[in-house]
Amino acid sequence: MWASAVLLVLLGSFGANALDNGLARTPPMGWLAWERFRCNVNCTADPKNCVSEKLFMEMADRLVEDGYKDAGYEYVNIDDCWMAKQRDANNKLYADPERFPSGIKGLADYIHSKGLKLGIYTAYGNFTCQGYPASGMHLELDAQTFAEWGVDMLKMDGCKQMDRHTMKKGYPQMTKYLNATGRPILFSCSWPDYERGAGIPINYTLVAENCNIWRNYVDIQDSWQSVLSIIDYYAKEQDTLVPVAGPGNFNDPDMLIIGDFSLSVEQAKAQMAMWAILAAPLLMSNDLRTITPEYRDILLNKDVIAISQDNAGIMGKRVLQNGSIEVWTKKLTGIGEFATAILNVGDYGAPINVSIPLVDFGVETFSGVFDIQDVFLQKDYYNYFMDGNFDIEIPPNSVAFLHLYPSDLRKLKKK
Ligand code: GLA
Repeated sequence: MWASAVLLVLLGSFGANALDNGLARTPPMGWLAWERFRCNVNCTADPKNCVSEKLFMEMADRLVEDGYKDAGYEYVNIDDCWMAKQRDANNKLYADPERFPSGIKGLADYIHSKGLKLGIYTAYGNFTCQGYPASGMHLELDAQTFAEWGVDMLKMDGCKQMDRHTMKKGYPQMTKYLNATGRPILFSCSWPDYERGAGIPINYTLVAENCNIWRNYVDIQDSWQSVLSIIDYYAKEQDTLVPVAGPGNFNDPDMLIIGDFSLSVEQAKAQMAMWAILAAPLLMSNDLRTITPEYRDILLNKDVIAISQDNAGIMGKRVLQNGSIEVWTKKLTGIGEFATAILNVGDYGAPINVSIPLVDFGVETFSGVFDIQDVFLQKDYYNYFMDGNFDIEIPPNSVAFLHLYPSDLRKLKKK
């Protein structure tokens, strides 16, 4: 009796300090303004693309009408530059009234009426990265304000907080205030990336206790080179990052830039496959009003999304690197099932034929035989034994994205 009372007290106090929202059991999916729309606040000159409620409403409409919501993309996320330049008379943040005439509450109502969720942005420190008012001295008030507005996700940045040693205290404070609102708000932290930049050792146990997702590395830009440098960072740090990922907690390599200006269709497939392997949030930053069908199809590929959203939430690893070929594998929930991305990062101008021994895929099998589905080509290969090789042709800057099933179980599933 006493022992259970003590246990309850201990559990109670743990719950109050750690993030306690039940969210992000699988990597969150949605749309985030920053990479594509930046801090464009000039609605007079550029009404179609400026950071305004109209932009978020139009993206919400596209998410619903063009199949993204049905595929799982549910968050519509505002980034920097939404605020008025000062707080109001009660010290509350409020949205720039010209660009957001309905206020964030009105926008949240619209987003919710579409069955979607709204994300917002603030920063630890006195200013956002673009110099707008941030949460520095007002963490508690801002957490309450966001909850009152009906916000569902919060990204807390931090570039203007020069003393990065304070982040390991400040972010957990915000976690506590978010919990206290009683509203489940998915918490996205930029804290580890700033510690990394400042050479401060990162305590990922503490990060995972306080954040649902977190940025580890530099901002993505609209280039293949940027995508590759990010993939490389996650490979180099995989022994640290894989163990902290799991339901409720995911490393965030930043937004999907599929359908923007730079990636070819093959490169876009590669980003999509790699973000699925990494159990990364799938937050698109693109113009859904003008995206072309071949990019939309990549973003909506159900078999790829199923790998990303696998319930076990395991982050995959680079298991082989040989010249321009990398093999990445992620364990899936299904018994004996794996996803493997064979990535060709090279620019040799013809497809390369690769022949990879199955023992190098980083998979285990109990039955000894796999069936393999290429999820982009929608092609099936049958009866691969562990002592055999898998042969495939991969174009430059592209990927073969494979779902491996134990042959016997696949046959059973298909019946
Ligand atoms: C930082 C973040 C970006 C974006 C900008 C906004 O650079 O890492 O993701 O939020 O700030 O100013």
